[in-house]
Amino acid sequence: MSLFITFEGVEGSGKTTQMEMLKEHLEWKGFPVVATREPGGTELGEKIRGMLLNTEGETIAPWSELLLYEVCRAQLVYEVIKPALKDKKIVLCDRFADSTVVYQGYVKGLTLEAVTSLNTWTTEGMAPTITFIIDCPPEIGLKRALARINAMPNSNKEDRFEKENIEFHKKVRDGYLRLAQEAPERIKVINGDREISAIHKEICQIIDKVITPQNS
Ligand SMILES: Nc1ncnc2c1ncn2[C@@H]1O[C@H](COP(=O)(O)OP(=O)(O)OP(=O)(O)O)[C@@H](O)[C@H]1O
Ligand SMILES: [Mg+2]
Repeated sequence: MSLFITFEGVEGSGKTTQMEMLKEHLEWKGFPVVATREPGGTELGEKIRGMLLNTEGETIAPWSELLLYEVCRAQLVYEVIKPALKDKKIVLCDRFADSTVVYQGYVKGLTLEAVTSLNTWTTEGMAPTITFIIDCPPEIGLKRALARINAMPNSNKEDRFEKENIEFHKKVRDGYLRLAQEAPERIKVINGDREISAIHKEICQIIDKVITPQNS
C-alpha cells in the first residue's frame, strides 16, 4: 500500500528516533519502506541542507531561506517521494511542508499565502496521509539536541536552529499545535515528553489501524 507519513516537532523532540523505529516496525511487518528527510534526501537537497544548517555567522534572508527549502522539497518529491508512492511503498519523511508553514510562516512572519502556495507547487499537491507532531516543551527538546550535538565530531554539527533563543522555539511549538487544530484528521499530536518506547507504541497503534488488511 502507498502511504505518506511525516514527522514534525521542535528540535530534539524525537522525530528522527521515532521515524527510525517506525521504519523498523513496518519492515518487520513486511512493508517496503522509504525513509527520507527534509531538507535533504537527494543529492541536490543534501547540498542545500549544508547551506541551510551549517551557516557560519552568515545571515540568510528570510525569502532566500524559504526558497532554498522549497528547492529541496521540489527535488525530494520529484526524485524520491512520488516514485516511491507510485511503487506502493510507505514513505516516511523527517519534516516536510508543515515545517515551512511553522518556521517561515508562523514564526518568521513570511506571508502564509506565499508559503502555502509555494508548498502546493513544490509538493505537486501531495499531502501526507498522516503527520505525527512529536510535541514536547522546547527546553526538553533543546537539552536532548544539545547533548546529541556535543557528542558529534565538529564536521557533523548542524546547530543553527539550536542556537535560536527559547522564545523562538516556544513559538515553533505553538505554531505546530495551531496547525494541528487546523488539520485534526491528518495531524496527530503525540506527547514526546515520555519514554521513547511509550511514544513508539502509540505511533504504532495509530499506524497499525491504517495498515490493516482491509485498507491495503
Ligand atoms: N523520548 C525521549 N526521551 C529521551 N531522549 C530522547 C527521546 N527521544 C529522543 N531522545 C534522544 O534525544 C536526542 C534527540 O532525538 P532526535 O534526534 O530523535 O530528535 P529530533 O526531533 O530528530 O531532533 P532534530 O530536530 O535536532 O533533528 C537523541 O539523542 C535521542 O536519542
Ligand atoms: Mg532529527
